[in-house]
Amino acid sequence: MSKPFGTAFTDALPFGVLTAVHLPDSRDPVPQGILDQLPPQERDHAVTLGGYRQVDFVGGRLALHRAIRSMGRKAGAVLAGPRGEPILPDGVAASISHKRTLAVALAARSGHGTLGVDLEDQGPPRMIVAPKVLTPEELSAVNGLPDERRWMGVLLRFSIKEAIYKALYPYVNRYVDFSEAMVTPDPDGQAEVTLRLTRGEGPFRVEARYYWLDGRVLSTVRIRPLNLPAAPDDGEDEGPG
Ligand SMILES: CC(C)(COP(=O)(O)OP(=O)(O)OC[C@H]1O[C@@H](n2cnc3c(N)ncnc32)[C@H](O)[C@@H]1OP(=O)(O)O)[C@@H](O)C(=O)NCCC(=O)NCCS
Repeated sequence: MSKPFGTAFTDALPFGVLTAVHLPDSRDPVPQGILDQLPPQERDHAVTLGGYRQVDFVGGRLALHRAIRSMGRKAGAVLAGPRGEPILPDGVAASISHKRTLAVALAARSGHGTLGVDLEDQGPPRMIVAPKVLTPEELSAVNGLPDERRWMGVLLRFSIKEAIYKALYPYVNRYVDFSEAMVTPDPDGQAEVTLRLTRGEGPFRVEARYYWLDGRVLSTVRIRPLNLPAAPDDGEDEGPG
């Protein structure tokens, strides 16, 4: 039995440290002993939330702080900006996602770029979402897949796009539509991403990697402006360390 709000796993992935936290499948208020693990301002915000939103918020922040700690750093309260984006401490790139019984956070030093993470349940196929989240080219790529792989093709592209949005947001500060990115996943867990930003922001270097985890897809994205000089501590494909 998994302990609610306990760490499910921590993994060093190519873009950063990923920490996953078990969430209880319950709307009950988060116990005080768990709230006490958050910095005071996050705790103050958590008590204003109810039901699953409180559970998700607390689980996501616990995952974030544990991921940052495993980089050998410590962060104060990470509050939310106007569109829900986490306001991160200087020098840290990170992103949060939560889905039902799991919250995840991906964190790294910011010199390598911004991060996005997304977790989606495989669930039963809902092909009706495909035209809302895919470009015509993506739709035709998915329609070319064998029947039994089509839903995975949609879900994977959707999840990578949500992670793209989170990593892109700090640069563009606006809603980015699903039609503004085209994602072509390869079978090895990477994806080619082409941005078509309607306001012409960029250019950006976008890297995407995905993982299948026990009935879920986990997408990770790292974005860096192409015209930015490399950070002094930068190193290609170096671990999160
Ligand atoms: C914001 C959005 C991506 C969140 O995804 P979701 O599947 O609903 O929820 P997740 O659990 O995966 O992620 C929620 C976390 O995202 C983070 N987040 C929310 N808005 C964000 C933003 N603008 N920028 C970066 N991170 C953001 C928050 O940390 C949030 O968790 P918290 O509120 O507990 O801190 C989604 O609701 C959305 O608006 N999508 C439409 C935009 C989009 O994806 N466009 C595709 C562009 S190619």
